[in-house]
Amino acid sequence: MKALILSGGKGTRLRPLTYTGAKQLVPVANKPILWYGLEAIAAAGIEEIGIIISPETGPEIQAKTGNGERFGVKITYILQEQPLGLAHAVKVAQPFLGDSPFVMYLGDNLIQDSLGQFLQHFQQKSLDALILLRQVSNPSAFGVATVDEQGHVLALVEKPQAPPSNLALVGLYFFAASIHAAIAAIQPSARGELEITDAIQTLLNQGKTVEALELQGWWLDTGKKDDLLEANRIILDSLLRQDKQGQIDETSKIIGRVAIAPSAQIINSTLRGPVIIGENCRIENSFIGPYSSIADEAIIQDADLEHSVILPGAQILGVQQRIVDSVIGQRARLSLAPGQPRALRFLVGDDSQIELV
Ligand code: DAU
Repeated sequence: MKALILSGGKGTRLRPLTYTGAKQLVPVANKPILWYGLEAIAAAGIEEIGIIISPETGPEIQAKTGNGERFGVKITYILQEQPLGLAHAVKVAQPFLGDSPFVMYLGDNLIQDSLGQFLQHFQQKSLDALILLRQVSNPSAFGVATVDEQGHVLALVEKPQAPPSNLALVGLYFFAASIHAAIAAIQPSARGELEITDAIQTLLNQGKTVEALELQGWWLDTGKKDDLLEANRIILDSLLRQDKQGQIDETSKIIGRVAIAPSAQIINSTLRGPVIIGENCRIENSFIGPYSSIADEAIIQDADLEHSVILPGAQILGVQQRIVDSVIGQRARLSLAPGQPRALRFLVGDDSQIELV
């Protein structure tokens, strides 16, 4: 059994963060989204993992993630020159996959359930494909399945305007080698991509064994800002362990579940968990409220924030109004002059959003 993680693509929906970085490396609770998938695959005992990368963000993913040693696996990076679809990515990975069955994991998905139970189902029943489904309120944003009363998959359609059900395809699939012939038989969709959904539909049309299981735990597709904040909230809620390291001065108050990296400095501040603070951060005269992740090297001074994700090296200085539901990009700087400010002065990148509420 091998694994293929799809970490190419353009990440247009997380702009502007993804102009300069890969969306799969955006941190959730201070850990790149991609690593959650890698760890889940490693925990299922799969050791050979291919990661699809794009020319734009591949080098960054490779530099950050390495050869797999830290996860106890062997990683092979596979370059997909253009994001021509999920099935195209499998085609590009064929030399790596060979005839091996494999699990395919979308690098921007976060899935609570462990893979082991699904892998066992797939292997015991010698399926051609096992897909996972989850009821959602906005099925048009996903691949959608129609299943009969026994749970057999009848049909699949990608991002339909009139969804036939509310069962979305989760970004975790199990395939036998027969998927390669199915991919060879499909044509690009209206949006110009080779859709994995069409390849699975081809397997169904050929009478191959395709089954679906419904996911029990939470599942997040971290494509947009609100999804990212929600993923951050859920991970901090469910996985964060108290770990108070760093230099914390006597006037600071740490309340609830808070993890502080050894090199962080907390000065005259209140941290109300769940909160995570990265390496070399300085938090001074500030309040950091629940569901906040402050990445490495960030500086928060004379500020007040909660339910927010602050990326590495960002600085928030003198902003006394509470910052909520915010994502602040790498090295971004937000500052307010002392006293009553009379004007707002911005240097804001393309596609940024500023809301004074
Ligand atoms: O998240 C689940 C959904 O993922 C499914 O319900 C859909 O059926 C499936 O098509 C997919 O839809 P998305 O529109 O969300 O896919 P996205 O373009 O965001 O790509 C998913 C991941 O795959 C992301 O990490 C980027 C990577 N990718 C994408 C394409 C198109 C590649 O590596 N290569 C590609 O060519």
